Amino acid sequence: MGESLKKLEGKVAIITGGAGGIGEATARHFINHAARAVIIADVQDEKGQELAESIGLDRCIYMHCDVSKEDEIKTLVETTVKKYGQLDVMFCNAGILNKAEQTILDFDLSQ
Ligand SMILES: NC(=O)c1ccc[n+]([C@@H]2O[C@H](COP(=O)([O-])OP(=O)(O)OC[C@H]3O[C@@H](n4cnc5c(N)ncnc54)[C@H](O)[C@@H]3O)[C@@H](O)[C@H]2O)c1
Repeated sequence: MGESLKKLEGKVAIITGGAGGIGEATARHFINHAARAVIIADVQDEKGQELAESIGLDRCIYMHCDVSKEDEIKTLVETTVKKYGQLDVMFCNAGILNKAEQTILDFDLSQ
């Protein structure tokens, strides 16, 4: 493994919206690059749990967390630090992609 690929070695990372898409790919990438643990935080419990199991529960766990609820974020962070004694990376990836209602023609480029 090259030096640049060792940057994640031993790190503990939370990935919100980690049950699928970019978050899932990131979780697998982090594990493949020697992260100590990845915590998948999402609202899709079944999908998140299955992903954690497929990666391996020794290095990946799922926690339910709706990022729009501050108390759930607080619990997520506190539980992670309590369990692993560290939190190095917080990837705030959760979100919903909305179809843009604006077009380039709506912008006033004269200013
Ligand atoms: N895919 C793209 O082309 C693209 C482009 C620009 C921005 N993004 C942004 O990147 C992020 C990931 O995109 P993606 O394509 O992987 O999306 P995705 O829909 O595949 O995955 C998003 C994940 O976020 C989770 N999620 C949604 N609301 C949540 C909440 N309140 N709390 C916790 N988890 C929640 C979903 O359950 C899902 O697992 C999103 O924020 C998206 O808006 C994506």
